[in-house]
Amino acid sequence: MGKPTILDVDTGIDDALAILLAAYSPELELLAVTAVAGNVHLEKTARNSAAVLHIAGRDDVPVYPGARKPLIGKLRTAEWVHGEDGLAGLGLSGGRVERESAAHMMYRLAKEHGSIVVVTTGPLTNLALAVSTYPDLVDYVEKHYMMGGAYGLTRYGFGNASPTAEFNVWQDPEAAEIVFESGLNTYAIGLDVTMDPSTGLSLEDIEALKSCGSPACTLAYHVSKFYVERVGDPLMRLHDPLAVAAAVSEELFGFEEHGVEVALCGKARGTTLVERRPWIKKRGIKVASGVRGEEFKQLFLERLRGDR
Ligand code: BDR
Ligand code: CA
Repeated sequence: MGKPTILDVDTGIDDALAILLAAYSPELELLAVTAVAGNVHLEKTARNSAAVLHIAGRDDVPVYPGARKPLIGKLRTAEWVHGEDGLAGLGLSGGRVERESAAHMMYRLAKEHGSIVVVTTGPLTNLALAVSTYPDLVDYVEKHYMMGGAYGLTRYGFGNASPTAEFNVWQDPEAAEIVFESGLNTYAIGLDVTMDPSTGLSLEDIEALKSCGSPACTLAYHVSKFYVERVGDPLMRLHDPLAVAAAVSEELFGFEEHGVEVALCGKARGTTLVERRPWIKKRGIKVASGVRGEEFKQLFLERLRGDR
């Protein structure tokens, strides 16, 4: 039996790929997918999540809608990367979105199962609301894996939404600060590893997805092709699947423990500030500082092809 897991997403192209990886990984018992506003508005991130689960043949996994906007300030969506509908303009539908709220369901499911894993691949608004409303949630979350932040631990660890800030933390910096201070056992998978070229799908990898034939491969092919053409990057960056992969197989990553604060004002707003002064004692989070990229990619592609 896999680890009881909640996946919190702002689906989004790479979130869709993260859902597929989670849906096909027996190491995880996917209890629910919760949606948050981020790459596109909440209605779309929730609908896209349900549609992806439907394509994956996982209508058994409920989708719960969460926050419509960051805790403070306006939502800044990224249709220019993900398409108007958030999923490469494919106009997908299917599946169902429940009515109960994400934060409440996180708590309810965590208590019901006693110990769960939470993977977040969007802004941290839902998790911040959950942990603020139900502080004892931290006792039921064994590990929290997040895609987010840029920590300067590798040459790829600089910003994408601003020169220094990564999109998910930049979208809702207050939520990230709440999560980092909450006592959750957080493992951060940031741009330091997700921008490592060894983790990206090449054009050949993307073409190979076309011939594999499974519905998951076909979806992955279309959204990845859209992404590389739209962004003009020769690699499909698998930011969000990497956070799921950490939950599936943590040994693919190297981690360093650091105190991390979030810049909340000025031009650096949303930047993750890593405390490296040894004389400052601060409770840390685990920050990914290395990844076995080829092995990760192999795992990702095998699971989509249904090889194991
Ligand atoms: C993150 O930002 C979003 O656009 C992606 O879905 C990913 O979660 C990468 O910075
Ligand atoms: Ca995302």
